[in-house]
Amino acid sequence: MKAYRAAILRFSDDHTPIHDADGLLVTGPDAGGRRVVHAVGDHRSLVGAFAGVPVEDLRGRLIAPGFVDMHIHYPQLDVIGAPADGLLPWLENYTFPHESRFFDPTHASEVAGFFLDELQRHGVTTALTFATSHPASVNAIFEQARLRGLRFITGKVLQDRHSPDGVRDDTEQSLIDTEALIQRWHGVDRLGYAITPRFAPTSSPEQLRGAGELAAKYPQVWIQSHVAENLDEVRWAAELFPHSRSYLGVYGDHGLLRERAIYAHCIHFDAADRALMAQTGAAAAVSPTSNLFLGSGFFDFAAADAAGMRYGLASDVGGGTSFSPFHTMLAAYYVGREGHTKTGMSLTPGQLWWQHTAGAAQALGLAGLVGNLQPGAEADFVVLNPQATPLLARKTAQANSLDELLFALIVLGDDRVIERTVVS
Ligand code: GUN
Ligand code: ZN
Repeated sequence: MKAYRAAILRFSDDHTPIHDADGLLVTGPDAGGRRVVHAVGDHRSLVGAFAGVPVEDLRGRLIAPGFVDMHIHYPQLDVIGAPADGLLPWLENYTFPHESRFFDPTHASEVAGFFLDELQRHGVTTALTFATSHPASVNAIFEQARLRGLRFITGKVLQDRHSPDGVRDDTEQSLIDTEALIQRWHGVDRLGYAITPRFAPTSSPEQLRGAGELAAKYPQVWIQSHVAENLDEVRWAAELFPHSRSYLGVYGDHGLLRERAIYAHCIHFDAADRALMAQTGAAAAVSPTSNLFLGSGFFDFAAADAAGMRYGLASDVGGGTSFSPFHTMLAAYYVGREGHTKTGMSLTPGQLWWQHTAGAAQALGLAGLVGNLQPGAEADFVVLNPQATPLLARKTAQANSLDELLFALIVLGDDRVIERTVVS
């Protein structure tokens, strides 16, 4: 057993942030040997019950749940910051050429290692991650995530049409490969598999149908894809699937909307699309730095809330511009404020932080396991230094409330704030 004394941030069941100014986090092995939270709360009220447990004194620091990134592409590490006239030229000119190199296990392993180091440096302890269409890219990152003990989800990209040589796969073989990877990796240690059609325009109806059949056969496995990100993409999907009610409807028509199905972007939606997300339990991965960088549009938080849709935050690196959850939360705030294409609103710092931790975990079907600090949860957490830069030290010293403290971190924070990332 090991305990940590510090300020602690966690969330109540109704999403309210709880701040233990002088808190204690007690961790130790569970029956299966994983390190979990045994107790968390006010130091004075807990310390007596854990008298024999060694305590690391981290007063002056803030312990918070490890961040959960709902959508990121590890093979796009070197695509960050590639300019293009929107999504489709960006895919063709930068992304597909980079991804075509991941048939090579040596290249895939090198990028996977760098990528996982970068997640850890930024305080991200769980990520739902795209690999490429090459099975070697999946094996490379699962092997390294396993060595690091991460709760980590990825899958082989399915894209059997409208894709160049080097990334395009074969319909039948892609489904055979997907099932073999599910059997090899899903549920090994803390790893999970995601069935990963890239997006409807690059999959034939047969490939989408096969993916849907696998999703029904393996209900605990995740699904990840993209939807309604960019208007040219939306028009293209409508041309290719004229019988579906909408772009999102294409996925519904192929058995790809259910709990544990995570769709990046979900911007150009109507009320029926949002209702379909809510009814099926599918969730949106809101990717604000990517949407601002590629000029895709603005996620409508108010409409999503009104529909009862699940969502959480994501970096979408390399369309996204940063691994930092602070940058993503700040961009989400900007997107929320935007009031010309939709209703503008001010997301509170507690809401933003929840959407990148406990809310993201809930949307992934991992509530109670990661994303929050509560008894029984896996002990994935970050130690934050609110004095990491001179301006942050000045600003956080003046904070009169938890909201002011969290907002200072969101607006001014980056990887310098993450002093340590601890994985269960
Ligand atoms: N749509 C299809 N593929 C991609 C991708 O790699 N990134 C983003 N942002 N959108 C996509
Ligand atoms: Zn993406």
